[in-house]
Amino acid sequence: MPTESASSSRCGVAWARKQVRDLAVAVNVPPGDAGRFADALVAADVQGIPTHGISRLNVYLRRIQAGLINPRAKLSVIRQRGGVLVLDANHGLGQVQALKALDRLVPLAREHGVAVATIRNSQHFGALSYYCNQAAAQDMILIASTNGEPAMSPEGGCQAFFGTNPLAASFPTGRGGPVKIDFATAIVARGNIIAAQKRGQPIPPGWALNGEGEPTTDAAAALAGTVLTLGGHKGYALALMLEVLSGVLSGAAIGPAVGSMYKDMNRRQGVGHFFCLLDIAAFMEVSEFKQRIDQTIDGIKACRKRPGVSEILIPGESSHREAQQNRLQGIPVDESTQSEIKQLCMDLGVKFRLGPVARSRSACTRRRPLSRVTAQVHRGAKSHSNFRGLTHQAHGRPQ
Ligand SMILES: NC(=O)c1ccc[n+]([C@@H]2O[C@H](COP(=O)([O-])OP(=O)(O)OC[C@H]3O[C@@H](n4cnc5c(N)ncnc54)[C@H](O)[C@@H]3O)[C@@H](O)[C@H]2O)c1
Repeated sequence: MPTESASSSRCGVAWARKQVRDLAVAVNVPPGDAGRFADALVAADVQGIPTHGISRLNVYLRRIQAGLINPRAKLSVIRQRGGVLVLDANHGLGQVQALKALDRLVPLAREHGVAVATIRNSQHFGALSYYCNQAAAQDMILIASTNGEPAMSPEGGCQAFFGTNPLAASFPTGRGGPVKIDFATAIVARGNIIAAQKRGQPIPPGWALNGEGEPTTDAAAALAGTVLTLGGHKGYALALMLEVLSGVLSGAAIGPAVGSMYKDMNRRQGVGHFFCLLDIAAFMEVSEFKQRIDQTIDGIKACRKRPGVSEILIPGESSHREAQQNRLQGIPVDESTQSEIKQLCMDLGVKFRLGPVARSRSACTRRRPLSRVTAQVHRGAKSHSNFRGLTHQAHGRPQ
């Protein structure tokens, strides 16, 4: 997937985080929450998922300004039994509420071995692997999903019913970064079509149908129509499963009742999320798990390759490599995102900071004390070198 267009320039990671944080504070998000929101958003850009990073900042903040997202919402517990938590995000920022949910789940998973949360009344909360990577950094496995605004039809239909309902999980390894599995049940995340529309470019054939159910390469027609499911009827079935876990079981809005982030500027989204957190230590010694997953990776990488293929990649590996580059060179920010953020800065009286990377490199590469977990990750990285993509950290809170 292209992540950098000809018209994009790079911005230092630290400056991008500060920009997002300052703007969020300007719309009444408490500073601590604004920092977490900024970290989640910029991490997506760092990890090479710009469709779910700062390109969404404008719409999140406009929805706060329109009273559709509560910038100071608390996360409330509706029910609890054992390791099960039923949570209400009270229409707060999805990223912040999801992180607060994870804060509550971690001690429960340590106690019970497994902890599960449903979260209702939430919003679009970006790239799921961000939350999964946080869990992996604590030697836990988070299986995460969400429903979303209608974008895909059931197999045979041409009316949007499901969101592109993504599924994600990250698995800690002994070599630095986690194995990161994170995908929409659509053939592509809808963010790619939104990005093509913003750039005024067509989308590849096979991604979407227009409103009449005919194949289209026109991004606007695709957004008005439906995105195709991943693998036809199998993606449909998987999307339904995730809709049941994230929407039905959570008490959130279901299918077309979920509000559109871009089109419905007069109603809340009511998204639901599903988090299942496993404490690896409840199953086996963490060191044994890591040794076994490393062995699995080695086996996969050693598979005989198809003609013309130079390397078999592990899910998350290319993203880890991209993250290393983006931390050094800054994240690509396309022209339309830059002008949206410039406008937000003017409207909110905030200094525009998405300047060229040269100005911000020192801030972006400034060394910060390593957390205990990240330090372990770095130590692990030194002792193994045969899995290049995952050897140089890149999970947990991004640098
Ligand atoms: N919040 C929401 O409502 C929502 C909805 C849809 C998608 N999303 C997010 O959009 C993002 C992108 O989703 P997507 O479906 O476009 O993902 P994608 O197609 O870019 O990647 C899917 C998975 O395949 C892996 N992968 C890709 N190429 C590979 C290769 N050659 N070898 C091995 N593994 C490989 C990736 O590491 C990833 O785990 C995700 O972060 C997802 O969470 C969010």
